[in-house]
Amino acid sequence: MANGAMRVEKMRPEDLEAVLRVEVASFSQPWTREMFEVELIPGVSLALVARSDADTLVGYLCGSIVGDEFHISNVAVDPRVRRRGVGRKLLLSALVEASQHGASTASLEVRASNRAGQSLYRNFGFTVIGRRRRYYTSPVEDAVIMCLHPLKAAVTSHTEGETA
Ligand SMILES: CC(C)(COP(=O)(O)OP(=O)(O)OC[C@H]1O[C@@H](n2cnc3c(N)ncnc32)[C@H](O)[C@@H]1OP(=O)(O)O)[C@@H](O)C(=O)NCCC(=O)NCCS
Repeated sequence: MANGAMRVEKMRPEDLEAVLRVEVASFSQPWTREMFEVELIPGVSLALVARSDADTLVGYLCGSIVGDEFHISNVAVDPRVRRRGVGRKLLLSALVEASQHGASTASLEVRASNRAGQSLYRNFGFTVIGRRRRYYTSPVEDAVIMCLHPLKAAVTSHTEGETA
């Protein structure tokens, strides 16, 4: 997959089959089709997909803006194309869009053992602000709460990095 040709677009109903395949391959408690369908209701969520140069769906991100906070609820990349910048590109696109819609803070929960996820977020300036005990099941595990503030400054520095 040529990284330069990868593009990020809004998720569409016809993406759901491919989204669910990546979801099931990525999580022990995958979201259901119905959960993704809610994300597609206009005005509810920011739901993005990444497509490769061959038009194959390679990842997605869902989040929602409440007040001035953008909460990221789901991010996953096809295991076959991980570690090639797809997660970073999805996250940057979502943060840019959330910032343009007035969000000044971003937040999320991530499994305490999920080093890949935490590292991805830390690279954008997210910091750990707390922990939710036994937040996840299968297996039971704490969530680490991560937060990025101010969002605009982080987006600006990363956008400059991308275009430099
Ligand atoms: C987390 C995830 C979305 C990252 O996607 P990705 O496309 O592989 O990530 P990228 O290639 O854009 O990597 C960006 C940064 O994330 C971190 N990262 C990604 N995979 C990593 C790994 N396996 N180990 C350590 N750090 C990792 C690194 O800091 C990386 O930067 P670098 O390559 O310059 O070191 C992907 O691993 C995934 O889908 N995991 C399963 C689902 C999941 O855990 N989602 C997050 C739940 S909150």
